Amino acid sequence: MKDDVTIGVVGATGVVGREVLAALYAQDVPAERVRAFGSERSNGLEVEYGEDSLEVERATPDAFRGLGVVLLATPAEASRTLAPAAQAAGAWVVDVSSAFRGDGNVPLVLPGFNGEALGAGFTFKGRVVCLPGAVTSAVVQVVEPLRRAFGVVRAQVTAMMGVSSAGVRGVAELEKQTADLLSGREPEPHVFPHRVGFNLVPQVGGFMVNSPWTEEEGGWTLEAARLFSARGEVPVIAGTAVQVPSFYGHGLTLNVQLKKPGPVEQVRAALKTSQALKVLDAPGERIYPMPMLVTSDPAVHVGRVRAFPQAPEWVTLFAAVDNASRGAALNLVEAGMLLAKRPA
Ligand SMILES: NC(=O)c1ccc[n+]([C@@H]2O[C@H](COP(=O)([O-])OP(=O)(O)OC[C@H]3O[C@@H](n4cnc5c(N)ncnc54)[C@H](OP(=O)(O)O)[C@@H]3O)[C@@H](O)[C@H]2O)c1
Repeated sequence: MKDDVTIGVVGATGVVGREVLAALYAQDVPAERVRAFGSERSNGLEVEYGEDSLEVERATPDAFRGLGVVLLATPAEASRTLAPAAQAAGAWVVDVSSAFRGDGNVPLVLPGFNGEALGAGFTFKGRVVCLPGAVTSAVVQVVEPLRRAFGVVRAQVTAMMGVSSAGVRGVAELEKQTADLLSGREPEPHVFPHRVGFNLVPQVGGFMVNSPWTEEEGGWTLEAARLFSARGEVPVIAGTAVQVPSFYGHGLTLNVQLKKPGPVEQVRAALKTSQALKVLDAPGERIYPMPMLVTSDPAVHVGRVRAFPQAPEWVTLFAAVDNASRGAALNLVEAGMLLAKRPA
């Protein structure tokens, strides 16, 4: 990032915002160049910035003056107001919520996949860009090397999503439910539609209007179509989102239908060509991806690569991603850095 750019991190008290601060600190961005924002609820609180701490300011339209880049790690309804306010204040804005993912005027960017769309040679309307969700970003990174090597018709996904996908309130709910259940008390669900402690809930977020798909699942299809459209070949990405009783990290089963199937060794070799992936695939030695292994790993882990001889075009894989860090915060910071290099 340019040395003189000041970065605003909005949602700094949240699951993603805290990871954004950790990523900026890890990249040696001095505390004087970072400002932390939240709602009126967290106004005046302190958040950790490495050895230092930052005071959380209330995010008001006026508060963004003087910032070069604003990273929004806020709920969609807040981003809808805050993004135009930050843009009007002259900042480049990256939003990680779902607020703008369906808006063709707002570039959808996954750094490491189509980050070039933020380069100085590209023009786009306004100063706001948005990011895909954590599941889409991981699935796209797994599918892309297979698309390049074999062509991909579709990928059926089952995403087992840790409760941090619902932010600090999701984490607190599983903590409380686990303690209640271990003490023989039946907990009341508040954040999730059912008890998630010692359970699996096949609903993440609300259902789309007049649709059997949840907004989370519909988002994968829409976002992947937008990202792949520039490649001229759009694999259909669809599946089921399941809320599972783990805290951080998502596990993903993918069934990928290849256009021209190849042996499993070639599939594994194709995955290894991607810098975004780490292939962990030695099942005999019990080596495969697991959410507990991805904490703060900037790579998406992939393994358990299999195919049936009777249906060689279908390849089955398992992947894991750190949803808050790789799936959100690192993308915010990487996109912010690309934007900071653009001419004002
Ligand atoms: N968690 C994930 O795995 C993940 C992955 C990809 C994308 N996302 C997206 O990232 C965004 C943040 O998610 P999260 O999990 O970090 O949620 P979270 O833990 O609930 O944090 C939300 C943050 O937004 C702030 N906020 C809420 N309303 C605000 C407002 N009106 N003005 C300013 N700040 C406001 C909150 O501040 P207060 O403390 O003041 O309430 C808090 O810092 C969401 O859009 C989510 O969909 C999350």
